[in-house]
Amino acid sequence: MVKICCIGAGYVGGPTMAVIALKCPHIEVVVVDISVPRITAWNSDQLPIYEPGLEDIVKQCRGKNLFFSTDVEKHVAEADIIFVSVNTPTKTRGLGAGKAADLTYWESAARMIADVSKSNKIVVEKSTVPVKTAEAIEKILMHNSKGIEYQILSNPEFLAEGTAIDDLFKPDRVLIGGRETPGGQKAIQALKAVYANWVPEDRIICTNLWSAELSKLAANAFLAQRISSVNAMSALCEATGADVAEVAHAIGRDTRIGSKFLNSSVGFGGSCFQKDILNLVYICECNGLPEVATYWKQVIKINDYQKSRFVNRVVSSMFNTVSGKKVAVLGFAFKKDTGDTRETPAIDVCNGLLGDKALVSIYDPQVTEEQIQRDLSMKKFDWDHPIHLQPMSPTAVKQVSVVWDAYEATKDSHAICILTEWDEFKNLDYKRIYDNMQKPAFVFDGRNIVNAEKLREIGFIVYSIGKPLDGWLKDMPAVA
Ligand code: NAI
Repeated sequence: MVKICCIGAGYVGGPTMAVIALKCPHIEVVVVDISVPRITAWNSDQLPIYEPGLEDIVKQCRGKNLFFSTDVEKHVAEADIIFVSVNTPTKTRGLGAGKAADLTYWESAARMIADVSKSNKIVVEKSTVPVKTAEAIEKILMHNSKGIEYQILSNPEFLAEGTAIDDLFKPDRVLIGGRETPGGQKAIQALKAVYANWVPEDRIICTNLWSAELSKLAANAFLAQRISSVNAMSALCEATGADVAEVAHAIGRDTRIGSKFLNSSVGFGGSCFQKDILNLVYICECNGLPEVATYWKQVIKINDYQKSRFVNRVVSSMFNTVSGKKVAVLGFAFKKDTGDTRETPAIDVCNGLLGDKALVSIYDPQVTEEQIQRDLSMKKFDWDHPIHLQPMSPTAVKQVSVVWDAYEATKDSHAICILTEWDEFKNLDYKRIYDNMQKPAFVFDGRNIVNAEKLREIGFIVYSIGKPLDGWLKDMPAVA
């Protein structure tokens, strides 16, 4: 029996290994992590992450060929294939701070593998890492090898949170990069054989190591760039009376452009896009390519612009101040169908409103109060560095309330900001909400999910991103 061990029981390690265990009953899969609470949760009825379909799979396989453990060293020593799926956050200090990937977690995992291994291993980079990381990992392993043979593969993960299980069941492609040596090619075939249990062969792409590593950064950069492009258009639409949804539909019909990933919104979030682009920018700068770096940096600048434009729109529409006003925030997760708040645009929007002294009342179906309060009091980039966590700021705590119902959040509020596209926000009883709000009652739809016309009929003043402005908003000061 082949034994797989995955280091890192997070959003990637957990679901990916659960699907491998389900599709490969003949393989034993152990997911290990240094975080005791995380492993305890994986072994309980309350999984540490919310992902549609995940719970069923874990229940089917756990205890049969899928295990979660904190005994990292034992399971690494026993495994034939070791996936490393630890976090690779942006560095907060020292050389490359604010841009470069912090590979501390990766390096410590590699050193531990070298320490405990007694048999040959295939080590698979599952985390998103800077191109050429495999070379560094190889050096650590080879210089501590004790005669053991290691093959390093790059097998970046392309799943999207919220649809992770579907993405893993039917991936557009699986990418495996390895050394162009007989040993490297043999390792590629071994990993390919795992995926071949459910992924058609023509969807498994094999490349050299550097292409695989860079492809993941490139894919995230291209995806984020599409969002920033359509968001940049949304600002122009508002200024000219064009409708960004109509523009996106019209351009998306061109098969060279395609219709997916063209929804305008308050901005992209999630743990990956910003971090991976910053990392790409840093790599370009280090390779003497400042023009390329500047090009990609702009994707993040537009994303930041979109978030601050949204806040400015809220404040300027409400007579240029939200001080002391209750603002309901519907949705805090960075997208629907996940409880993940890492880099969610809601953090920047809420902080912007709090900076203008609003009283913010937040409801999200999957995010806890503790998480929200922590997110709103943390410094940029610190979320993925547990060591640097700041104590909660008393201001944030006082100005923010977290409630478990959209009606409670909106009661007596002056405005509603929709920041996550949860389906339930489409079907709320907006008449009831309107009746319980201060007037004039505003809706700022950061995801373009409500029917603006219907809401206007009820009496709301509605702002939808990239759509023609209603009369009220046109009369308010211009937004920069
Ligand atoms: P995560 O933060 O949810 O999970 C990482 C886990 O690794 C944590 O539970 C942490 O305790 C553990 N860990 C860190 N160092 C360790 C060590 N030395 N030994 C054992 N466990 C250790 O991160 P997530 O979201 O799963 O991401 C992991 C990697 O996958 C990152 O590089 C990310 O960029 C990449 N990725 C993430 C995607 C996502 O949608 N979240 C999608 C594709 C790639």
